[in-house]
Amino acid sequence: MNLMHILKRFFVLAAFVPALAVASDHAVLDQAPIKLNDVASIQNGARVFVNYCLNCHAASHMRYNRLMDLGLTEQQIKDNLMFTTEKIGDHMKVAMNGKEAAKWFGAQPPDLSVIARSRGADWLYTYLRTFYRDDTRTTGWNNLAFPNVGMPHALAELQGEQVLEEEKKPEGEAAHGAHEAPKKLVIAIPGSMTAAQYDATVADLVNYLVFMGEPARGKRVQIGILTLLFLAVLFVFAYALKKEYWKDVH
Ligand code: HEC
Repeated sequence: MNLMHILKRFFVLAAFVPALAVASDHAVLDQAPIKLNDVASIQNGARVFVNYCLNCHAASHMRYNRLMDLGLTEQQIKDNLMFTTEKIGDHMKVAMNGKEAAKWFGAQPPDLSVIARSRGADWLYTYLRTFYRDDTRTTGWNNLAFPNVGMPHALAELQGEQVLEEEKKPEGEAAHGAHEAPKKLVIAIPGSMTAAQYDATVADLVNYLVFMGEPARGKRVQIGILTLLFLAVLFVFAYALKKEYWKDVH
């Protein structure tokens, strides 16, 4: 098999891996309304991330000064976003000891640098919105996208507390009784945000998580477009040159 064949196989395989990862999760995923060129949204997501997630999760591949790509100044980053370190070139580390965390939650909070690449934006958007109260769990929380998760609901003060309730069956269907009643999440104790505000905040957070998975994306797309423009202009000249060379041949 030549190299081209091996590469082709590899890419076909790689294309299927995320699809398989999603297929193995049973929860129906909501589509994340993220916009990767919405800088204000990513900035807000970064703020939520350092305030609510970084106390347990590190993002050890992300440096604070990368946030300058989002138009934030060094001073803004230092004043508003840096709690665990003083150096702007530092990685987003976590204050907590991993072994301790594993003891408290039964699982170690994973590094979130590239979580958006492994889980996908839709999964994250669904996960962060489907925590509900469950007294059988040691943390008191469960989750629809990640059943029996070890993480407590970090954003409960914003979303409030949801419970999983059985939906009322339409008349007559009860007689069949074979299926389990469908369940839905309802807010039992409201948080500081309305449902719409909370969804928008989680969208910003997921937007940030996707940005963090590839902070240079904006630059890459820009370079790609410039390259295509350059090739287009070059084509005009190359074509004119070709005409000039061949005009006497025919
Ligand atoms: C109190 C500590 C704590 C906080 C705060 C916290 N997490 Fe977690 N998180 C955990 C633990 C522990 C796990 C591992 C759960 C497991 O494997 O059962 C986890 C798991 C996750 C996962 C699943 C990772 C995977 O694919 O297995 C994601 C995604 C995640 N957290 C995102 C977040 C985000 C986003 C925030 C901020 C809004 C956050 N977490 C805040 C403790 C925390």
